[in-house]
Amino acid sequence: MIRLQKYLAHAGIGSLRACERWIAEGKVTVNGEIVTEMGIQIDPEKDTICFKGKPVQGEEKKTTIMLNKPDGYVTTAKDQFGRPSVLDLVDIPGVRLYPVGRLDYQTTGLLILTNDGELTQSLTHPKHHFPKTYEALLQGEVKSQDLETLRKGVVLDDGYRTRPAGARLIGLNGHNSRVEITIYEGKNHQVRRMAKAIRHPVLRLKRVRVGDLTLGNLNEGTWRKLTPKEIQSLKAAAQTDSQKDRKGKRK
Ligand code: URA
Repeated sequence: MIRLQKYLAHAGIGSLRACERWIAEGKVTVNGEIVTEMGIQIDPEKDTICFKGKPVQGEEKKTTIMLNKPDGYVTTAKDQFGRPSVLDLVDIPGVRLYPVGRLDYQTTGLLILTNDGELTQSLTHPKHHFPKTYEALLQGEVKSQDLETLRKGVVLDDGYRTRPAGARLIGLNGHNSRVEITIYEGKNHQVRRMAKAIRHPVLRLKRVRVGDLTLGNLNEGTWRKLTPKEIQSLKAAAQTDSQKDRKGKRK
């Protein structure tokens, strides 16, 4: 339940004060009845609210999901080459979602999609060094020296030195190496460029974790809604991180 004037204001009709005035002027109906009384509670799921005779569409319900992105999908809505988009894999009636950040066309794994602008901002703001973990199959045998280089930061093809990262060998796959890499920033094609910098190019790349959120056993091409607890935890982590950053700056 929500107060009528608040519902109207959230739906973008006008400021709270303007909405109160329009209610008082008799411009608002609830289920066909003019309501001039201030502060009545309505149920957006059941009640029909009209302003000047036209139905008011409520604020879109905030929805956040995680998708296990398959290889061969772009994370933009439209693609100049007509390739399929991750948005083709998610169909929730009346809800328009946006990917949080990007994964390359060939990268698989954990992708968050949401219509919660505040969450997107928290997770993608360059000042929030939010951890993202990848499992990468790298060409050749990666030595401990190479892992150390990744951890300390490597110089990419454009001269940028990456921030300290996590890097550990998970195992060998024939003559190639399975490496877990955690980065705390999001430069374009960052993991692929880091791998290139140590001369062990990426053969396969999968994102398995974002903050505390893990992909788990979600099948490729499928998605699930995040629980309120998972969303809360993502927001809290991003906030803690920005506080750390502010403290760091004060020094
Ligand atoms: N780093 C990359 O190189 N590609 C991705 O898709 C994600 C991170």
